[in-house]
Amino acid sequence: MLLPVIGYTLFAWLTMLMKYLHNFIGPLFIVSTLFFVVLYLKDNLPKLYDLEWLAKAGGLVSGKHVPSGRFNAGEKSWFWLGVVGLGVVMSVTGVILLFPNFEQVRTTMQQANIVHGAGAIVFIVMSFGHIYMGTLGVEGAYQSMRTGYVDEVWAKEHHEYWYNDVKAGKVAQPATPPGGAPQVQV
Ligand code: HEM
Repeated sequence: MLLPVIGYTLFAWLTMLMKYLHNFIGPLFIVSTLFFVVLYLKDNLPKLYDLEWLAKAGGLVSGKHVPSGRFNAGEKSWFWLGVVGLGVVMSVTGVILLFPNFEQVRTTMQQANIVHGAGAIVFIVMSFGHIYMGTLGVEGAYQSMRTGYVDEVWAKEHHEYWYNDVKAGKVAQPATPPGGAPQVQV
């Protein structure tokens, strides 16, 4: 899309810059993904009530909220299939491409390149849906990312089982955030 607009010289310069940036950011992606998985693993373990969320497609048709834990079944699917599944695919194929010194043959690198490119398309497409949900799609979601907090009404509406656990003291909570109404930390 960019080539006809910016011309060969700038395009070549830009793609080379991106390639080198990618070479360095790739390994960082692996480390960050590992941290992410460790941090959120516990709350993404499947629970029986997730079946209800899936059966009702998260209330997409009825328009009514389906109770869930800290993460609903949709978020858990994204965690397991996207972060863990695709994360492993991108990391393994990325390392094969980045370090051509494991005695891998050219064919292996060509195959890794195809899988890596296909995985990238899936990742990018899914991330668009995810960005939509995190900004315009779900009211209050963007605010919760910015501040790290959601208000109690939102928590009760969107993640009722988690809200109940917080209220029952089963989940450790820090003090009320500075200047805020009663809130629970995301
Ligand atoms: C979500 C994560 C990632 C995305 C979306 C992504 C995306 C891409 C894309 C679109 C390409 C170009 C494929 C082609 O030429 O057809 C590529 C190439 C490549 N990626 Fe990734 N990548 C990711 C993660 C990683 C990781 C974790 C590593 C390494 C640790 C890595 C290393 C590489 C290397 C070495 C290349 C080949 C660059 C070259 O042409 O010399 N990538 N990646």
